Amino acid sequence: GDLTVGIHDLSVATTQYVLTHETLAGHNGTGVAKYHRGIGQRAMSVPAADEDIVTMAADAAAPVVARHGADRIRTVVFATETSVDQSKAAGVYVHSLLGLPSAARVVELKQACYSGTAALQFAMGLVHRDPSEQVLVIASDVSRYELGSPGEATQGAAAVAMLVGADPALVRLEDRSGMFTADIMDFWRPNYLTTALVDGRESISAYLQAVEGAWKDYTERGGRKLGEFSAFCYHQPFTKMAHKAHRHLLQHNGHAADEEEITRAIGHTTAYNVEIGNSYTASMYVGLASLLDHADDLSGEVIGFLSYGSGSVAEFFAGTVVPGYRARLRSDAHREAIGRRQQIDYARYRELHERSFPADGGDHPTPRETTGPYRLVGLSGHKRIYAAR
Ligand code: CAA
Repeated sequence: GDLTVGIHDLSVATTQYVLTHETLAGHNGTGVAKYHRGIGQRAMSVPAADEDIVTMAADAAAPVVARHGADRIRTVVFATETSVDQSKAAGVYVHSLLGLPSAARVVELKQACYSGTAALQFAMGLVHRDPSEQVLVIASDVSRYELGSPGEATQGAAAVAMLVGADPALVRLEDRSGMFTADIMDFWRPNYLTTALVDGRESISAYLQAVEGAWKDYTERGGRKLGEFSAFCYHQPFTKMAHKAHRHLLQHNGHAADEEEITRAIGHTTAYNVEIGNSYTASMYVGLASLLDHADDLSGEVIGFLSYGSGSVAEFFAGTVVPGYRARLRSDAHREAIGRRQQIDYARYRELHERSFPADGGDHPTPRETTGPYRLVGLSGHKRIYAAR
């Protein structure tokens, strides 16, 4: 029928602190050009001691609920790689902090950086089933690698909240998807580790293989032609990866892949990620926010999305930007969230990186650090306690 489903609202939040690559390079002796030009990163968001995936998620979702109300939200899907509990969904804390209706379902989804897209697909299915319902999709992550490891320069943190519903104001999403799964150990995090393990070079080729695989399936299912897309949003573990991915897609299709063409197709999607770093499940949707906030009028233009999660699962899908979308953007709030972060020095970063809660069930209050709207008050009796600041 005439039902269109997609992204009705999109809001990004990040952390209290920021570590610049200049500071990291100053500490470890790397030439900063490797970070700025080689991987395409200038700074990474670092959570304060009283921030985590829940506080960032609530921060991102609060303005969405304030604008649209919660009456139609019957499902909250929380996508994350940085889960804080093996059993309870992080979204239940967000549901509570935002005062959402008790007549709702809340669930957490995992598959590395891909699960934000799984959440979006789940949401689209629910809205197709009952177009009167809206789904709050949240993707929130803190990317952490071992100190001094090659991955360290690709850390970051952010949350994205998306309201998914019928007749969306921002992006109409198409049902056709191209999918790809391969059992591969390119990046993973066993339950007993707090930092991710990664085979850097392997992860880059695994990503490119997945781009090819998802695009192949998309094409075989009668998807759009490459030339129909005005822009491409890729998962961005570091922004240079989006360049590599798009170059690979163009070459694979026998198209010219000069730097100018690549920048035209993905340039506006990287502006926020350059400053935030990897936010795993949120990263591609931070890229979408960056595109909508920075590009000239995209009304009626088609965007391609390539979501990748190590391990690995990938999905390619398309969306059309809805005329009138610009009046609904949160560009000022996004720039302000990125701009207001406090710069920290290497010693402070290291202290925060090494911080962990003892697993003794005792009372462990967190210092008051965040100036954001929500904070992790601490742990008590093995329970995480959150509050509005
Ligand atoms: N000026 C300009 N460029 C420079 C430079 C300089 N002075 N010095 C180095 N470079 C370039 C290199 O040529 C290289 O570019 P190319 O890849 O285009 O050749 C780039 O900077 C990086 O240099 P290295 O490959 O030597 O860097 P590295 O080995 O230290 O680590 C990395 C790079 C493997 C990506 C590492 O950061 C890492 O392990 N990151 C985490 C894993 C990751 O993000 N993988 C991405 C795919 S997996 C995924 O997408 C899921 C996810 O979110 C994790």
